[in-house]
Amino acid sequence: MPADTTAINKLMDRFDDHPSVWLFGYGSLIFKADFPFVEKRPALIRNWTRRFWQGSYDHRGTHTAPGRVVTLIREAEAICEGMAYLITPQIFEHLDYREKNGYLRLSTEIIFEDGTNAEGVVYIATAENTAFLGPASELDIARQIAASSGPSGHNKEYLTGLATALRALGKKDAHVFGIEQHLIALDN
Ligand code: SIN
Repeated sequence: MPADTTAINKLMDRFDDHPSVWLFGYGSLIFKADFPFVEKRPALIRNWTRRFWQGSYDHRGTHTAPGRVVTLIREAEAICEGMAYLITPQIFEHLDYREKNGYLRLSTEIIFEDGTNAEGVVYIATAENTAFLGPASELDIARQIAASSGPSGHNKEYLTGLATALRALGKKDAHVFGIEQHLIALDN
């Protein structure tokens, strides 16, 4: 898979002729919605778990010192909670560029808090992409985050932005909050 996934994502045209489509965000798309949307609703997707296993060369790190950002890893029975946005398909051009460092558009079932659901899109960076870093201990992930920054800002701001947004939604994520605790300890 090329390092830049923009061209592959353009081929995912399944929603192009829909007037609107739901986008599920589980990382920076929760706390940094820099695109127009019609509506947003807290939501979840099933059988995926959020992990800081994706390298960031273009936003929160550099080519020589990548940061770490979240992707989703398949896990039976797991749920990942986040924010769903109703967007027009034109917004994918902006999103494909923003998520170009390894993320692919996948279609998924999105479940809203009232139990209703919709088919929509999620950006996932799989193990096949060249920026994928894979597992590490939460302490080592915190150390890497503490040492990284890139064009979009410090990697620490990504972690705290995500943790703060999840708390504001009343959601828990042991992996995200565990790394946050290590970061606080490293700062003291
Ligand atoms: C997402 O937020 O849904 C994708 C990962 C990211 O941009 O942080």
